[in-house]
Amino acid sequence: MTESDETLMRAARAALEPLALPKGGTLGGSSRLTGLNAHDGRVSAIIAIAPQEASDFASVRQAAQAALQALPGVSQALVALTAERDQPQTASPAASPAAAEPAPGKKRPAVLPDVAHVVAVASGKGGVGKSTTAVNLGLGLRALGLKVGILDADVYGPSLPTLLGLSGQPRVGPDRRLLPMQAYGLKAMSIGLVVDEETAMVWRGPMVMSAITQMLADVDWGRLDILLVDMPPGTGDAQLAIAQGTQLSGAVIVSTPQDLSLIDARRGITMFRKVDVAILGMVENMAHFICTDCGSRHAIFGEGGAEAEARRLGVPFLGAVPLTMDVRRASDLGQPITALAPDSVVGQIYIEIARRLQKQLE
Ligand SMILES: Nc1ncnc2c1ncn2[C@@H]1O[C@H](COP(=O)(O)OP(=O)(O)OP(=O)(O)O)[C@@H](O)[C@H]1O
Ligand SMILES: [Mg+2]
Repeated sequence: MTESDETLMRAARAALEPLALPKGGTLGGSSRLTGLNAHDGRVSAIIAIAPQEASDFASVRQAAQAALQALPGVSQALVALTAERDQPQTASPAASPAAAEPAPGKKRPAVLPDVAHVVAVASGKGGVGKSTTAVNLGLGLRALGLKVGILDADVYGPSLPTLLGLSGQPRVGPDRRLLPMQAYGLKAMSIGLVVDEETAMVWRGPMVMSAITQMLADVDWGRLDILLVDMPPGTGDAQLAIAQGTQLSGAVIVSTPQDLSLIDARRGITMFRKVDVAILGMVENMAHFICTDCGSRHAIFGEGGAEAEARRLGVPFLGAVPLTMDVRRASDLGQPITALAPDSVVGQIYIEIARRLQKQLE
């Protein structure tokens, strides 16, 4: 921690401590200020609450955020309310602040009134190509004329900046909301750009959830037809909490054709169904290999496995994307294939997947 980080920490603490709590007393006089971090002008704080206190503490959170934002040298402030639970393993709907009010399946609060659909892009396990799919699917939807945003919800390994070639920090708009970054006609925001990694590392599921729902509300997305949320890998607390807290229209599940990965995909589907989130479809990624040298097609893991599995599970199949060097190279360069070469075979596949998704949302 640098000297200026330390100075900022002290100033942040001094600004937060006098804040009044709903039932009397101050934040400084309670043990609720459980996390405070400052780094390079970015300050984050965590206020611990019980699940049922969420609405009472919304104004405390806002006041805290405004107090931090007003400090000299602060470029960004994020204050999260977190409700820790007794048994972190059992993800009950009442365990997180955002999920505390409506039961799953009931109407969720409108966090984003100007966004027609929030769609999660998820998988049961990591590395299957969720982020690649989210970005290219977003570009496919854009190619169909829709207004699209992407939120990278992976605090531990944000990949949107790389995939879309984003650099720098998001700016703060006149009403103190964060302005999303722009790339290839997409609005993009990565929670990793706002919360520094050291802070995120100590977060548990509910904290991640609360940061993400707040980030959704604190970003000036404007009018969007679709906001895609690139979900963190896995089916743990954090994923479940996001699924419950973000008023999803549904989820797209990405899977590779290997059996193991399909088992994970099933787990992902089960998780969303448990919280009454519709599965809008399955995308098979790295379905077959297209050889750069000879152009021939190799079905390394067999053919049609994901499609058959989707049918068995009663989930729409949105399409199969081959494993190609072009996809990887384009991603590494920050120039996704559907932006770089929309007319290529793979570009057209993503646009067709987008078309099928759009149909599912109608
Ligand atoms: N169809 C494809 N062809 C070639 N490479 C691909 C393809 N899809 C993804 N990749 C590559 O595989 C790697 C993992 O992809 P990606 O980061 O999208 O996965 P992820 O599921 O988001 O991973 P994580 O769980 O870490 O978030 C990346 O290097 C990406 O470029
Ligand atoms: Mg990813």
